Amino acid sequence: MRELKPNVHAVGAIDWDRRLFDELIPLPDGTSYNAYLVRGSEKVALIDTVDFHKTDELLGNLIRQGVDRIDYVISNHAEQDHSGSIPDILTIYPHARVVTNPKCKGMLMDLLHIEEDRFITVEDGGRLELGGKTLRFVLTPWVHWPETMSTYLEEDGILFSCDFFGSHVASSSLFVADEARVLVGAKRYYAEIMMPFRKAIAGNLEKIKDLRIDMIAPSHGPVYRRPSLIVDAYKEWISDRVANEVVVAYVSMHHSTARMVDHFVDALMERGVAVRRFNLTGVDLGELAMTLVDAATVVLAAPTVLVGPHPLAMYAAVLVNALRPKTRFVGVIGSYSWAGKMVEQLGGLVGNLRAEMLEPVMVKGNARDADFEGLDRLAETIRTKHAEACR
Ligand code: FEO
Repeated sequence: MRELKPNVHAVGAIDWDRRLFDELIPLPDGTSYNAYLVRGSEKVALIDTVDFHKTDELLGNLIRQGVDRIDYVISNHAEQDHSGSIPDILTIYPHARVVTNPKCKGMLMDLLHIEEDRFITVEDGGRLELGGKTLRFVLTPWVHWPETMSTYLEEDGILFSCDFFGSHVASSSLFVADEARVLVGAKRYYAEIMMPFRKAIAGNLEKIKDLRIDMIAPSHGPVYRRPSLIVDAYKEWISDRVANEVVVAYVSMHHSTARMVDHFVDALMERGVAVRRFNLTGVDLGELAMTLVDAATVVLAAPTVLVGPHPLAMYAAVLVNALRPKTRFVGVIGSYSWAGKMVEQLGGLVGNLRAEMLEPVMVKGNARDADFEGLDRLAETIRTKHAEACR
């Protein structure tokens, strides 16, 4: 059990080996499910729990430290990687009550079948006295679900933020030691689950800005002893500023699309436009999501399959649309042999973006000189538009 401050300890679990979350999101650096024990002179609170498959580790940490009573289990978020052990905690500590907001209570009852009489509900700004330790509840919706909240320990200035500010990083260090590593993990995590809710996050940052925060203790990854590191990063990620960068996501079957992508990427580089190129046959979705946080333009490139875009390009379009990055411009590059609806179909899949659709470059068969000139014009259009948009 590791100490954040006197009578505040980390009791969660590190998941070194997990490589996939939600059967979707790669975890190249593992993760952790952080839970925190706060002991007041009169009451003991456990803030969040762990994924159910790590329950034994949580219980082992509590037992080893002789924790013979828990009065409150604070649930900041109903998702099972933080709530999964609550039923076992309620069994082992039979007088413990779950403290959460009404929306989270409903979700916990649905997901974990916790009886209603085990709950205490709190409102935004509500307080819970433990004896020399005061917990204040701050509703911070959409980081990551609508019921998410943060818990602020007033006397110690610790914000327990759950997914908010978290990083999928398995580390032996309780506190952030390698800032660059943790920032990459935190940016991936923001991109994967929070980017669609930039406006709500702006409101959440506003709500916590006047708190005296000495530490941010998220429920994934290390604890921040320099909160400005992650708060400033979030401010940048949610801002309207875009980078002079193009995400090129492509797939090619017989190399004609790949030839176009080769030429197009060179044309952008010659014009001083940064490029992140992703072959969709082996893409790390987290890496792709992370580049979408800043890039001003996304270009999808694919051949035609059965009159539509290659399914991997459709998958990428659906993903981009769901993540709602601040992308300003979208382009389509493609090839076909007899007919195709690629431009219409891909355009229809990215309606959430409110981005300007650039003139597509569609090629019949294998690209000829005139087609490469079309790619040069697309690169020049992007350079010009970025000169305005990325100031
Ligand atoms: Fe880490 Fe949304 O759960």
